[in-house]
Amino acid sequence: MNIKIPNHVAIIMDGNGRWATSRGLSRSEGHLAGSKTLQKLTEHIFNKGVKVLSVFAFSTENFKRSKEEVDYLMNLFIKMFKTNFKTLKNKNIKIVFSKKESGLPEKLEKIIKQVEEETKNNTAGIFNICINYGGQDEIVDTTKKLCEKVLSGELDVNNIDNNIFEQNLYQDLPPIDLLIRTSGEERVSNYMLWQMAYSEMYFPSVHFPDFDSNEFDKALEVYTSRDRRFGGINKK
Ligand code: IPE
Ligand code: IPE
Ligand code: MG
Repeated sequence: MNIKIPNHVAIIMDGNGRWATSRGLSRSEGHLAGSKTLQKLTEHIFNKGVKVLSVFAFSTENFKRSKEEVDYLMNLFIKMFKTNFKTLKNKNIKIVFSKKESGLPEKLEKIIKQVEEETKNNTAGIFNICINYGGQDEIVDTTKKLCEKVLSGELDVNNIDNNIFEQNLYQDLPPIDLLIRTSGEERVSNYMLWQMAYSEMYFPSVHFPDFDSNEFDKALEVYTSRDRRFGGINKK
């Protein structure tokens, strides 16, 4: 079988908590294990030839969790973004963040800006990290941005189309070809609603810390077997 490589893969990294509790560990230990998995996985995914990788790291809704868990995650992100991306930077990958304009701790916002700045001219691929992100918020924020452009005279309302809309989202990315959500939950939890309009979906039962290179390769096999029609009819 000739494996097809999706251009844009998106992953809802779910199940860190369950992975930990099933081992008698704390939820924090689950998040730490998930962060280690992510580091290895990103390299593998770009090595496979995927051009754009999006991951859901923290949703706007995740602020509903206990202060202890939110604080742990924010500190983990700070540590990760400071140290973990060396190999990606060396591989010429551009790192971008999809997020609401504000709301994260200042220290984290600063590191995010730094990482974006350092990698902005990289051209081998894009790693899009969604943090303090909600899909509906992204669509509303984009609508506001377009309204402002119309009001200022920069944009003619009659010129707004899907392409213009897409270019004004948090990041201008190609459509998602393959969406993976680990942990067996079959829902999208307000993830990249616009970008997943025609994506193939795959819901493996493993929790994210166990989603290793082999598991990703299985996802590629499933993707290869899918018949993507985009509303048309494929000749067999
Ligand atoms: C995903 O794992 C990580 C984040 C949402 C930050 P969860 O923490 O949601 O793990 P479960 O779903 O409770 O197992
Ligand atoms: C989605 O997972 C968000 C992330 C993976 C960051 P959740 O665990 O927050 O989603 P629900 O609550 O099960 O829908
Ligand atoms: Mg969850």
